[in-house]
Amino acid sequence: MKLIWGVLTTLILAAVSSASSAQEVQTLDELVQLYDSSSCKVCHQEIYEEWEQSLHARPLYGPIGRTLATFRGYVLSRDTELKKSLEVAPGMREFLKPCIECHLPQMMDASEEVANELARAIIDEDEEVLDKLQITCIVCHNRNAILRKFRDGNPRPDTIYGPGFSGPHGDSRFPKAAKNEMMADTIFCAQCHQGPNVQHYDEPMWCTSTFDSHQHFYVPMGGTQSCQDCHMRNEGGHSFPPNYQNIAETSARLQEWIDLNLTIIAYRMKPDAVNLIPMVVIDAEVVSRIGHRFPDGCPSPNRVTLDVKVSAQDGQELFQKNIIYMPQHKMGYAEDTMVYAADRKLTLIRDTSLHPFVPKKETIEVVLPDGIEDVVVEAVLTFRQLPGIPEVEFPIHHVTRAVRLR
Ligand code: HEC
Ligand code: HEC
Ligand code: HEC
Ligand code: HEC
Ligand code: HEC
Repeated sequence: MKLIWGVLTTLILAAVSSASSAQEVQTLDELVQLYDSSSCKVCHQEIYEEWEQSLHARPLYGPIGRTLATFRGYVLSRDTELKKSLEVAPGMREFLKPCIECHLPQMMDASEEVANELARAIIDEDEEVLDKLQITCIVCHNRNAILRKFRDGNPRPDTIYGPGFSGPHGDSRFPKAAKNEMMADTIFCAQCHQGPNVQHYDEPMWCTSTFDSHQHFYVPMGGTQSCQDCHMRNEGGHSFPPNYQNIAETSARLQEWIDLNLTIIAYRMKPDAVNLIPMVVIDAEVVSRIGHRFPDGCPSPNRVTLDVKVSAQDGQELFQKNIIYMPQHKMGYAEDTMVYAADRKLTLIRDTSLHPFVPKKETIEVVLPDGIEDVVVEAVLTFRQLPGIPEVEFPIHHVTRAVRLR
């Protein structure tokens, strides 16, 4: 009886694994081979080169290597902050799941040994291995292409899915193409660009919430563009801007999508019958038309800042103020402390980020010292991907205006 049951479960397991797109992959090399998209380059050269520029080609590094640093912290915390994971998720693949389901989804089809190899490569920052682990063409156009599997079935191993057509396709491994409308829908991107993943995760992550903000704020406010419109079709294609390595392009995009409107007056205010208060009043309005909150996501310290400075004509600084626009998270426990990183943040305590179409209005009143009638007001709007690191600070608007007390 026991033997028959054993044979039966083997058969059942075999049926299950052949129904999903691939057999469990046994080595890291095999996994890399299976998703290797270099054959696509021959016929889709431009798309291929764009994709190589995108962060989808560096999903374990991220801009300026920050993703790798966070991944490393996560893996190392298995023995400290997250040590209960050894009971809850004894396997390494299960432990990595809350990150790799989005950063390297194909890893979910690989064996425990492969997951251990990945964990080692992360700890050792082994570039030779990590360079080959990417969200390749085949991940998006095959493995992750179909979202509604009860209706549309599993992706077939010989078919490439795209937004356009069904019919024969030139690639020898993928000789068929099938039309898949969902690839042109916001939902396609949402499978990785949403959070926090509170449901069905042993450890919820809040890496990014661009989709959530898009769905529940941008669309209700009357926004009509999709992720693909703004990040692929209008410009960029498969380079999926922003690319924080490209300062000029990123600044230009931010300038186009975020406005800074300033009204400045200088006058003598009369608070009562006797006194006069000489002052400058700066009304600033920051308005974003981006299709979700900005900034967002896992690059937690990233922020838009408005720095306002008032100086006398000789350069003497009279006033300075720095305003920060960003989502601010805590761990979700009683302590009210702001935290960073995907594996720590859970509850939004305060959100000063820029939401679509909602102007951020600041009124700043600066009382001028006696004898000063001419001042220079400077307002600088900047996106700081990592504050303090000049290579990833992007100027958006810089306004300088001279005002005179009359
Ligand atoms: C639901 C999908 C999802 C999960 C789960 C997830 N991430 Fe992310 N992560 C993303 C996406 C998408 C981005 C890039 C877009 C963005 O920042 O909004 C990103 C960006 C990052 C960045 C930012 C890089 C930078 O400096 O800009 C880090 C770091 C990161 N992830 C680490 C992790 C770690 C570590 C885990 C697991 C503990 C994890 N992520 C879990 C989807 C996810
Ligand atoms: C021998 C040439 C050739 C190779 C190799 C090739 N393709 Fe294509 N592919 C085409 C042509 C031709 C089209 C149709 C024209 C177009 O949309 O660019 C196409 C179309 C597509 C489409 C669009 C389908 C649609 O719905 O519009 C996708 C997606 C695609 N290929 C992905 C890939 C991927 C991924 C690879 C690598 C695994 C690959 N192709 C390899 C020639 C090729
Ligand atoms: C992050 C997911 C993702 C990756 C990675 C990706 N694509 Fe796409 N691709 C898409 C989406 C989404 C569309 C549909 C865009 C639209 O609706 O405008 C698309 C469209 C296409 C098309 C249709 C025509 C066109 O120009 O838009 C081709 C061809 C294509 N991809 C080939 C590739 C190749 C080749 C690679 C690898 C070099 C690749 N894709 C990597 C998501 C991806
Ligand atoms: C399989 C999961 C997955 C899918 C599907 C996916 N992405 Fe991503 N995307 C990522 C990850 C992971 C990163 C970031 C890697 C990092 O920074 O560490 C990323 C990065 C990006 C970035 C760069 C963000 C930044 O902070 O610079 C943009 C833009 C982006 N994706 C847009 C899209 C759009 C638009 C779609 C849908 C057409 C899409 N992605 C589909 C996983 C995915
Ligand atoms: C109306 C246009 C628009 C729409 C719609 C839109 N985005 Fe964006 N998104 C932008 C702009 C502009 C930026 C600013 C950075 C840049 O592109 O240079 C941005 C930034 C991002 C970033 C980087 C966030 C960060 O803080 O670093 C990600 C990731 C992203 N978008 C993903 C998405 C996804 C996923 C969708 C669909 C749910 C989407 N976007 C819809 C315009 C748009």
